[in-house]
Amino acid sequence: MKEREDERPRVLVVDDEKNLRESLAAYLESEDIAAFAAGSGEAARELLERERVDAVVVDLRMPGMSGLDFLSWLKDEGPAVPAVMISAHGDVADAVEAMKRGASDYLTKPFSPDELVVRLRKALSDAKLAAAVGAAKRASEPAVRGEAGSLWIGSGPGMEELKRLSERVAPTNSTVLVTGESGTGKEVVARMIHRMSRRADGPFVPINLGGIPENLLESELFGYEKGAFTGAEGRKVGLFELATGGTLFLDEVGDMPLPLQVKLLRVLQEKRIMRLGGTRQLPIDARIVAATNKDLEAAVKAGSFREDLFYRLNVIRLRIPPLRDRPEDIPALATLFASRFAAEMGKQVRGIAPEAIETLSRYRFPGNVRELENAVERAVILSDGEYLRPVDFSFAGEAMRENVPQRADPRPETAPAPIVGADGPLDLREIEKRAIEAALERNEGHRERTAAELGITRRTLLNKMNEYELR
Ligand SMILES: Nc1ncnc2c1ncn2[C@@H]1O[C@H](COP(=O)(O)OP(=O)(O)OP(=O)(O)O)[C@@H](O)[C@H]1O
Ligand SMILES: [Mg+2]
Repeated sequence: MKEREDERPRVLVVDDEKNLRESLAAYLESEDIAAFAAGSGEAARELLERERVDAVVVDLRMPGMSGLDFLSWLKDEGPAVPAVMISAHGDVADAVEAMKRGASDYLTKPFSPDELVVRLRKALSDAKLAAAVGAAKRASEPAVRGEAGSLWIGSGPGMEELKRLSERVAPTNSTVLVTGESGTGKEVVARMIHRMSRRADGPFVPINLGGIPENLLESELFGYEKGAFTGAEGRKVGLFELATGGTLFLDEVGDMPLPLQVKLLRVLQEKRIMRLGGTRQLPIDARIVAATNKDLEAAVKAGSFREDLFYRLNVIRLRIPPLRDRPEDIPALATLFASRFAAEMGKQVRGIAPEAIETLSRYRFPGNVRELENAVERAVILSDGEYLRPVDFSFAGEAMRENVPQRADPRPETAPAPIVGADGPLDLREIEKRAIEAALERNEGHRERTAAELGITRRTLLNKMNEYELR
């Protein structure tokens, strides 16, 4: 099956031998790779000012700018793309020098063109992976946790509607605005949309737009060229570029300073960016998901948020209800968190006692799911039994035991009460089983994807499916 024209990888071949570069370019095209050719390092440099490419193949010996000089230029000032060096002389010293100057691979002539294609595809996927790893490292700690245990719980009508809408918009390239109070799971939803999109193999790049000084934010988003300002010693690739082929998550978008709102709007309209101090416009290929806990309509009225930017972002709106409006999710969420923390900390906690579930369900959770998660984490740390009890929970430093009738001994040595949830008995195994079932359904039975979504290995998934007798 042919990939869509704009999704083909784009590769530049730089070689002074006309026949070789033209036949290589033709071969790449036959392999569904968009090929560009340049007869010299200088010509290649010019071409890179105009065109976006994903990788470069470069000959070592060329008159004028040598392949090695070109590599140095690429490393310091060119686009951050992998380069495969080719040479007629199987000289180890050259290969080492090429690697030092940033080449990702080295081939000796004569080579078969499909050998080159294999190496190119590897270089391309490594580069993508490196971008994704970089993005994951930048993600805040709770975000990473959300990714690892990417189970999403939501059962009331509001959450069902949210799930349906997410599934519908995920495969499109539409801009999505996720709104909800602090801690309601906006980032989880953003990641879910990314995972369900056609860009799932591309990077998910989060950036928090609140609380970062304006000039820093600008260089993070757009990148800069060497010497763009005092202290810009190298070139920096911005997050818009890093998110190529993936999703850029603009978190806390309501907290952006006005001048930056103008710049962001322009980028979203033109779908191009220019690095600070740069001269060329780079096309962007990132899906935008934005999130805020602010009332943006009110901010627009108050003049602190640009109306035009609001309309740009508000193409599809996903509203996450606060946890107090969906108490039916509390047992499942609490049990999920308990199992996750117990596993992380190597504790013997097996579930949550019914009295505790009941007290939790009555609490209003101003900090929403995040507050519940933190409370369960503390409870798991404090608990030395198999079931979390009301005494193990406290909110804002206030122990919950004040809210519940106390027994003489808060931890009687009787058998634990059965675990009850919203609809009958509920234990960790049941939760796990249901979660796996739901994930399988979401991924149409695709095992790899289901395992990836659940953050477990394929083997573990198969074992669990056996255990729970799932198809
Ligand atoms: N529906 C859900 N199912 C499972 N876990 C959830 C769900 N919603 C939120 N969480 C968990 O709650 C925590 C908070 O979620 P998240 O960081 O996405 O919230 P947020 O709305 O972005 O919060 P903030 O406004 O504070 O940035 C995360 O650890 C996340 O994993
Ligand atoms: Mg958030």
